[in-house]
Parts: sequence; C-alpha cells; structure tokens
Amino acid sequence: MIFSKPLRRSMKRMYRKWLAFWLRHSGEGLMGGLAARIACLGTTPFHHRSHFAELNLKGFVSPLAVMAHPDTFMGNHVYVGDRVMISKSHGGGIVELASHVQIFGECFLETGRGGRISLGEGTHIQPGCRIHAFVSDITIGRKVDIAPCCAFYSYDHDMSLRGPIMDQPLVSDGNLSVGDGAWIGHGVTILQGVRIGEGAVIGAGSVVTHDVPEYAIAAGVPAKVIGRRFSKNECRMPAKEAMDTHSECGVVV
Ligand SMILES: CC(C)(COP(=O)(O)OP(=O)(O)OC[C@H]1O[C@@H](n2cnc3c(N)ncnc32)[C@H](O)[C@@H]1OP(=O)(O)O)[C@@H](O)C(=O)NCCC(=O)NCCS
Repeated sequence: MIFSKPLRRSMKRMYRKWLAFWLRHSGEGLMGGLAARIACLGTTPFHHRSHFAELNLKGFVSPLAVMAHPDTFMGNHVYVGDRVMISKSHGGGIVELASHVQIFGECFLETGRGGRISLGEGTHIQPGCRIHAFVSDITIGRKVDIAPCCAFYSYDHDMSLRGPIMDQPLVSDGNLSVGDGAWIGHGVTILQGVRIGEGAVIGAGSVVTHDVPEYAIAAGVPAKVIGRRFSKNECRMPAKEAMDTHSECGVVV
C-alpha cells in the first residue's frame, strides 16, 4: 500500500507518541512489564531496541531481562536487553550501571563475597558476555566497547589438594579494571588482578593474564603487546578529553 508523504509523516508522529507513552510506563512489576512488551511490538531484539533507552530518561529494561540483584543502581538512559541476568550471590556487592550503559542480550552479571561491578558511562556490552565479581571488584571505565562472548572473572578457586576444587574457597589476586575508551575484541577472557589501560585494544580470542598498558594493542593466549595505537610523534589526546569533546585529534582506531 502506498501512503502519501504527509500521511506517512503523521503516522510516524503518532507512532513516536504511542512508543513514548508505553516506554514511560515500562518498568518493574506486571504493568511495567506489559508496557515494555507493548513498546517492543513490531521491533526486533538486540540493537534495534537500544534506542528505546535514549527516548526515556529512566532507560529501558527488556521484559525478558532478569533483574535479580536488589542493589543495582542505574543512571539515566540505561539499556538492558533480552535475557540479560543481573544477580546477587551470597555477600555480593553492588552493581552500578552509569548513564547510557547498554547491555545486550544473554549477558550475565553477578556479584558475590563482597565483589562489586561498576560500568562507566556510555559503555556497551555486546551479547553473551559474562561478568562475575566475587571477592574482588570489576570496574569498567567509560565508553568501553566490549564485543560478544567476553568473560571477566575477578577470582579463582583455591587449587590446593584439600579436596574437590568446587569445595574450596574463592581467592583473588585483586581487582580487575578496564580503562576508559578501551576495546575488548570477541571472545576475550580477562582474569583476576588484571588492569587494562585507557584506550587499549585486546584482540579477539585473547586470554589476558597480565596488565596491558594504555593505548597498547595486545592479543594472544596469554595476551602480549603486539603494537600501539600511537607512535610517539602522533597526535594523542587523553581518552578523558577525547570522549568529552570529539576533537579531530581524538582517539580513532
Ligand atoms: C588485534 C586486532 C585489532 C588487529 O590489530 P593490528 O595491530 O592491526 O594487528 P595485525 O593484524 O597487524 O597483526 C599483528 C600480529 O598480531 C597477530 N594478531 C592479530 N590479532 C590477533 C589475535 N586476535 N590473536 C592473536 N594474534 C593476533 C597477527 O597474526 C600478527 O602476527 P604476525 O606479525 O606474526 O603475523 C585484530 O586482529 C582483532 O583481533 N580485532 C578484534 C575483532 C573483533 O573482535 N571484532 C568484534 C567487533 S566489536
């Protein structure tokens, strides 16, 4: 069916109003979930719904997400996609999702034994990632791009010969952190105690066991530095300013 331009425009306006209404009423509980489902009508999951969060100050949590962590603190315009699970195990610390964080489908975030998770403003986590903060914290900076199927673990199992590993206490070498503006490639695993510097790039499939300097490119199992994003003479702006300004001298991969 062919509609005239003015008719198409007014239909678009009506759709936007209709969507804004249901997004405003989406949220927790039966009615919130129902409103979210109605808002989703006619859209496909994953990235096609992330703009819902931008249209609504309180963001958008998919009705299929499982928000089972009572101490989750969300900034404005946060997107939580289908079948994301955020959960708290015994003694788990808080989960902080700063404004404009986007977590796509099938991700699992969990805290336990005093561990906390913090995701900085504008960070995106693609589908299928796992972030488990037990014993120590996991802190991910601002505008970090995390590709699908990555895993972050801030702990290990004690491996002494006292008995089955599953019966032994969890141990940790310290907090795991990722600096502002970093890019973590597909299927990367980052282990306890590791600090990834600002603006660093981690190649697909890497296992990161040691710190990675800022603006380094690291890859492999275990990950080793294979290059740098900037030579000494190249224009370089600290990630903090580059992310606030969009200057031509900013960080471009
Ligand atoms: C790391 C990466 C960014 C490339 O960086 P680069 O500086 O252009 O590296 P090059 O392609 O020049 O490769 C340099 C060396 O590192 C090796 N290398 C590159 N990526 C690697 C990886 N992921 N794992 C292991 N080794 C890798 C190359 O084989 C090459 O080795 P060689 O010198 O012995 O031939 C890229 O390979 C990568 O992994 N991208 C991530 C893609 C992804 O996950 N996308 C998801 C979309 S969000």
